[in-house]
Amino acid sequence: MDWRRTRIKDLFGMEPGTKASAYGWVKTKRGSKAVSFVQLNDGSCFPDLQIVVDEGVIDDEVMKKITTGSSVRFDGEIVDSPGKGQSVELHASGCEVYGEADPEKYPLQKKGATLEFLREIAHLRTRGNTFGAVNRVRCRASYATHQFFADRGFGWIHTPIITASDCEGAGQMFAVSTQLEHQENGKFNLKDNDPANDFFGKPAYLTVSGQLNVETHALGLTNCYTFGPTFRAEDSHTSRHLAEFWMLEPEMAFCDIEGNMNLAEEFTQYIIKDIIENCEDDIAFFNKRIEPTLLKTLNHVAETKFERITYTEAVDMLQKANFNFEFPVEWGADLQSEHERWLTEKRIRKPVIVTDYPRDIKAFYMYQNDDGKTVRAMDVLVPGIGEMIGGSQREDRLDKLESRIEEMGLPKEAYWWYMDLRKFGSAPHAGFGLGFERMIMYLTGMKNIRDVIPFHRAAGQAEF
Ligand code: 4AD
Ligand code: MG
Repeated sequence: MDWRRTRIKDLFGMEPGTKASAYGWVKTKRGSKAVSFVQLNDGSCFPDLQIVVDEGVIDDEVMKKITTGSSVRFDGEIVDSPGKGQSVELHASGCEVYGEADPEKYPLQKKGATLEFLREIAHLRTRGNTFGAVNRVRCRASYATHQFFADRGFGWIHTPIITASDCEGAGQMFAVSTQLEHQENGKFNLKDNDPANDFFGKPAYLTVSGQLNVETHALGLTNCYTFGPTFRAEDSHTSRHLAEFWMLEPEMAFCDIEGNMNLAEEFTQYIIKDIIENCEDDIAFFNKRIEPTLLKTLNHVAETKFERITYTEAVDMLQKANFNFEFPVEWGADLQSEHERWLTEKRIRKPVIVTDYPRDIKAFYMYQNDDGKTVRAMDVLVPGIGEMIGGSQREDRLDKLESRIEEMGLPKEAYWWYMDLRKFGSAPHAGFGLGFERMIMYLTGMKNIRDVIPFHRAAGQAEF
């Protein structure tokens, strides 16, 4: 058996009369004594291939094994399909069953299983319509991401997953240590209480962002990006947070916040157009079953300039809103999810880039504005999600950076190499981080971030 067999996606394009084999998993089987219809899918495309099996062609004992979830190869001939919605079907002349799926036990039996239930069987849910579609969109969006940056001369930097510095300074890091030993009684034993004796000779963590590392490359290679898993030990049980998520982080030298905003907008629109063009059936499904305004919104956003407002303007709009927010709005406080959603969904009704946040609610590395109060931060908010992108122009002046690190009580020694970048050949530079799962939610209309990553990791949840 070679991997180069014809996939179901390609069978749909074949001329009637062609002899072919179709491999896949059975979605359903129905029919009468005279003829059976089997819906087969192999994940290559949204539609199932219909297999028509006339009575007597396949042994009754074998037919009994062809049930929902079983894996089968059907041999036969491509024929025009009289049924609506499909161009061709496969008229079977034989088959081989590879793996049976006991109908009494196979959990993906019934149609209409809830997304919550499917999350509990995440190892099998790719066989259903929704997760097949989510995975194809996710895969295509990753591919298009690399294509977008390669076409524009950005280098892909493989930044480390294990780090000794906290990029966001929010203390949400998972420690990486060989100090914890599992004991026979199921408890942990701490070998030693001295980080100097730990594996790396100092405290180390799973990265919350590849930004600091990718900055080193931008200040030498000019336009770069990193794209990989990042980790946050935040105990928030929301539909938008994961403990392990993928982040795309472009970083550009000789670029300011303006150029950064332009890139964020250009990238988002590029991906939307690419997905509309290349995942047509999947998006049609999401539009029908998950979010009825999806396609309209995506088409609109792909062509419309994002609104740009300052944080101060945003606060003003929120304060004047006749809306009962749970959290108060005051200058200096971070925008809550409800505020972000109101701005982008109710007030501006399209993606909006909010800039120049108070420096006290943002990370140490952001460029400080002359007003002494705000920094050149930018968050991109989109309807249905809220914050999808967070970025900034970086502080490239050594004295300003140093004093900020001190003011915030961060361990200056840990950032020695980061400050070196400002000591030698510093240059204006900017970048952002896009939460990849949040973008997939936006592209598919899926409402829970746990359903757009193959295996979600969140507080109390690390099954599979
Ligand atoms: O706004 P954040 O924290 O920014 C950074 O990490 C910067 N270092 C990025 C940079 O400038 N290179 O995170 C960036 C984005 C957010 O806008 C959000 O979309 C996503 O990452 N994100 C999460 N996604 C899922 N689960 C979480 N717990 C997330 N935290 C942030
Ligand atoms: Mg942020």
